[in-house]
Amino acid sequence: MGIKFDDKRKVFFLTTQNSEYQIAIGDGGVLLHAYYGKPVCAADMSYLLAEIDRGFSGNYYEMRDRRGFSPDTLPQEYSTFGAGDYRVPALVVEQDNGSRTLDLRYKEHRIVQGRRHSEILPYVRENSDETESLEIDLFDEVAGLTVTLIYNVFASKDVITRSSVIANTSGNTCRLLKAASMSLDITYKKMDLIHFHGRHAMERQMERSPLTHDVHMVGSSRGTSSHHNNPFVILCDRGAGEDYGECYGFMLMYSGNHAQEVEVDQSGSIRMVSGIGREDFTWKLYMGEAFETPEVIMTYSSRGLGQLSRNYHRIIRENVCPPEFNDYKRPVIINNWEGTYFGFDDNSIKEMMYAARQCGCEMFVLDDGWFGKRDDDNSGLGDWYVNMSKLPCGISGIADYAEGLGLKFGLWFEPEMINEDSDLFREHPDYVLRDPDRKPVMARNQMVLDMSRPEVVENIFCQMKEVLDGADISYIKWDFNRSLSNVYSVAAGREGQGEVAHRFVLGTYSLLKKIRETYPGIMIEGCSGGGGRFDAGMLFYTPQIWCSDNSEAINRLRIQEGTCYGYPVSTVGSHVSASPNHQNGREVPIATRAIVAMSGTFGYELDPRELTEDEKEEIRKQIDLYNGYYSLIQNGDYFRISDEYSREYFTAWSFVAGDKTEALLNLVVTDVRANPEIPFVKLKGLDPLARYRIDNIYSSIKEKPPESGFRSMIGVGNSYSGAALMNGGLALDPMYGVYPAIQIHLIKV
Ligand code: DGJ
Repeated sequence: MGIKFDDKRKVFFLTTQNSEYQIAIGDGGVLLHAYYGKPVCAADMSYLLAEIDRGFSGNYYEMRDRRGFSPDTLPQEYSTFGAGDYRVPALVVEQDNGSRTLDLRYKEHRIVQGRRHSEILPYVRENSDETESLEIDLFDEVAGLTVTLIYNVFASKDVITRSSVIANTSGNTCRLLKAASMSLDITYKKMDLIHFHGRHAMERQMERSPLTHDVHMVGSSRGTSSHHNNPFVILCDRGAGEDYGECYGFMLMYSGNHAQEVEVDQSGSIRMVSGIGREDFTWKLYMGEAFETPEVIMTYSSRGLGQLSRNYHRIIRENVCPPEFNDYKRPVIINNWEGTYFGFDDNSIKEMMYAARQCGCEMFVLDDGWFGKRDDDNSGLGDWYVNMSKLPCGISGIADYAEGLGLKFGLWFEPEMINEDSDLFREHPDYVLRDPDRKPVMARNQMVLDMSRPEVVENIFCQMKEVLDGADISYIKWDFNRSLSNVYSVAAGREGQGEVAHRFVLGTYSLLKKIRETYPGIMIEGCSGGGGRFDAGMLFYTPQIWCSDNSEAINRLRIQEGTCYGYPVSTVGSHVSASPNHQNGREVPIATRAIVAMSGTFGYELDPRELTEDEKEEIRKQIDLYNGYYSLIQNGDYFRISDEYSREYFTAWSFVAGDKTEALLNLVVTDVRANPEIPFVKLKGLDPLARYRIDNIYSSIKEKPPESGFRSMIGVGNSYSGAALMNGGLALDPMYGVYPAIQIHLIKV
């Protein structure tokens, strides 16, 4: 495992436990992609690089007699524009003389233990003893450009990350018109594209479509990774399912504009290009300067989509999220947003805290409305000092009260935003991203701060520091409630405007980094009107992200399932909210709401003063259950159980401990039926030779179907072999009532 170079055959072998990636230095130094798939024991796969003259696909000048050796038909390792490859390029550079032709050839390479760390971008943290990296320098002599392709291999996790650094080694200035992180050519194969689209309050809806001969682009030009298209896509075999078929995942570790482009070319080969979005991007590269692209986390699974997801879950949990919070038991949160919105004062907050503590909640999070002149969403953003008329005891008074009750305390910020009606805007109107000659586009009546400017970042940091130093705060909810528009910085000059969108993201990362370094014990939960910035870039700083502003359990089934194709449940902010739900009016039993919310960072988002004694008792029970299963849910392997057919009836998923000693099955019926089918559920990931006993059942079901004559086949104490549970499954009781749900805990006996 690891990285090897065969000097004789000029082939690089990048091997993980269950995958192999090969790059060949072709004639003339053309860097070709030879293979990515199941391990082939370092068999040289460059024999697959078939040459064929397709006509209208030109040849390198020095090999002009070799008509099959074309940049347009051979699988390239990093595609460029202008020199005969007509497929989607990864890199487009306008040189000093206006030429946009780029022809990169192999120059040298380095294989190193460990990996290089970016100072400005998030990255996948290395595993101390196993991470190896390969850096290949490509060079275009005429352009004077050196492109370093970087590959980091996480062998035991079946992950390879890719990025590139583009360095201007000429004596002139050039301009990057497109600078994607990677491209990958998969030779002829019929595949599906899976991506995760959505909208505010309905994020990451999984969509699967067969690839056709065209370019399919999944991206965002909203300045953030967006609710609308997550920067994560999967290419898989047409027939691939949860447990079978080849799948490739590409997850861009970036929180701004992005583009995931997939092209099926004239011969049926597939090209994947992932990186920063091309719209609103140009970058002037002066002599001696280099541009770093964000990292793409790639994984390959020959065992279907389930394994692909579990590969991502492990690497994100263990190598992306801040390590300080890996083993930290996240407290069960109560957040006041849906309980009060802006309508609170210190008395009501204290009453809520008291009631929440009675229910067993462990942290109180004070959401939007505590600062500046903020009584609704029209003013106050940018003024990060307490609103004393609402909270005369100050944040410290509130935090002390929480501490007295045994609750931790968290606070909401929206650091990158500003209202026109704020002291910050009155003092620094130029701090806003806007075209100075136009009225800005408003959204939620707010504007976006120009985070590309270090002095703006510093101003917000100092304001946040004042608050964080003044009270015992152990959590920040970091919100972001609009898309970018009028992306113009008064500090960037005419030439620099194409850089502002990317510099904005870098500014945000620098603020996050500064807060993290100054307050390593404070956990940050990311948020952007729910899950508008749910990406691996943010997860580098914020180990959890509020998954959606839609807290309704039945809609959440799809949102959370879509999210968990790439991201582990430990990152998914998920709360039980009131019923009827505020977003869609649906009524769902409290047990069902909790079973869904438990597949996340679990908490409550309601006014606990309004709960009945029975509900409080139920919540105490739920918190005890969740805390008991905490490690199993957060660190266990996640399995999607329901398939596209059963999903019309119910959604089921499970967690299995790494050592297979316990499992937790969750099932929610979304379409209750008369004379119903028995829900047969086959478990996954168990030890086939072990016996598992049902240790506990938690369910929303209070009544049995009338006159059903049904004899229940499951009960606490029943035991089954792992093989039986995985191949025959469980025959669950038919479920009756409103959105019934069941959670079954199995332990190995
Ligand atoms: C959007 C978030 O997703 C909500 O949870 C809440 O914090 C509001 N913003 C507050 O404005």
